Amino acid sequence: MLSERLSLALAGGDLTLPDGGMIAVFGPRAGTDLSSLPTERVTVITGFKPDHDAFAAAGYPCARAPQESCAVALVCLPRAKAQGRALLAQAADLVGTGGLLIVDGQKTDGIESMLRDLRAQGLSPMVLSKAHGKMLWFAAQPVPADWHARGPQPVEGGFVTAEGVFSADGIDPASRLLANSLPEKLGAHLVDLGAGWGYLAARILARDTVRTLDLVEADHVALDCARANLADPRARFHWADATTWRPDNLVDAVVMNPPFHTGRAADPDLGRAFIAAAAAMLTAQGRLWLVANRHLPYETALAQHFAEVSELAGDNRFKILAAARPTAPRSRQRR
Ligand SMILES: C[S@@+](CC[C@H](N)C(=O)[O-])C[C@H]1O[C@@H](n2cnc3c(N)ncnc32)[C@H](O)[C@@H]1O
Repeated sequence: MLSERLSLALAGGDLTLPDGGMIAVFGPRAGTDLSSLPTERVTVITGFKPDHDAFAAAGYPCARAPQESCAVALVCLPRAKAQGRALLAQAADLVGTGGLLIVDGQKTDGIESMLRDLRAQGLSPMVLSKAHGKMLWFAAQPVPADWHARGPQPVEGGFVTAEGVFSADGIDPASRLLANSLPEKLGAHLVDLGAGWGYLAARILARDTVRTLDLVEADHVALDCARANLADPRARFHWADATTWRPDNLVDAVVMNPPFHTGRAADPDLGRAFIAAAAAMLTAQGRLWLVANRHLPYETALAQHFAEVSELAGDNRFKILAAARPTAPRSRQRR
C-alpha cells in the first residue's frame, strides 16, 4: 500500500523531500495514511467527493486542481491508463522540470506499465517495490504531448465522456438495459444516484412528464460531462456523495445503476448504502428502479427498506429490480 511504501522510502533515506515548498498529492483514496509527509505542506488534489470529504475532515486542504506551485507531486495511479498519464502530465507541469515527482500504484493499477513508459522517455526512476505495488520517483521533465488530458471526447449517441469516468468508451450495457426497461410514467420529481456522464439521465429526460431530475455524482469529471450532455433546464447537478446527499423535498422515483467497487475492491456495501439513501428520499408512494450485476445480493437490502420488491426484467448478466413502499423514516416534506 502507498502508506507502507512512502514511510519505507522516506525512513530509508532513499527518498528525500526538499526542505520547503508544497506537496500536492493527486488522487489518494479515503483512508490512505499520508502522515509520513509533513502535513502542513500537503494539499490533496481529487475530484472524487467522498475522498475529498474524508481528507478535508482529516484537516488537509483539498482542491480539484492545483491552486499554487508545488515542490513535490505524488501521483496515486488510477487504473485507467489514460487518466494516469494525464495526472502525471498535470503533476509534471506543476512541479516544473527538475521538481520531485513520485508515482505510486499497485500492480493492478498498471504501475509496471507506467515504469516501462517512463523508462521509454529516457527517465531512470528510483523504484521501491512492496506490498504488490511500486513507488517510483524522479526529477520531472515534460511528458509527451499526448499524455495530457484530452478533455471531453465524443462517443455513440452524440454524448461526450472523458478519460477515467465510468464507461468512458460509450454507453454501459447495464444502464442501457435499465433505460429500456423503465415504464413510461416515472413521476414528476426524480433522482439519478451515481449519474455518471448522464446516459440514464438523458433517457429519463426524454419523458415530458418529468419536471425535475437531480443528478448526484461523486466524480467531478463525470458530472462535467453530464452537464455537457444534458442541456435541459429540468436537470440539476450535484457533486456529492450519494450515500449522504438528500433532496430538499421527497421525490417520486430514484433510478440508479449503483457502483459496486470502492477503488479496486468489489464492495456490495456501497450499493446497499445507495439503496438505503434512495429509500430515505422517496415519498410513501415513491419507487426505486435499479440495475445490478446478477450475482450482486441486493434483494436483502431492498427488503429491509421497501415493503415491495420485484425483478422487472433481466438477462444472464444483469437484473432490473423495482422497489415500492419505502419503510425508512422520512422527514422531508412532500412537494
Ligand atoms: C455504475 S456507474 C452508473 C453511471 C450512470 N448512471 C450511467 O448512466 O451509466 C456508477 C456511478 O456512481 C458514481 N459513484 C461512485 N461512488 C459514488 C458515491 N459515493 N456517490 C455518488 N456517486 C458515486 C461513479 O463515479 C459512477 O459514475
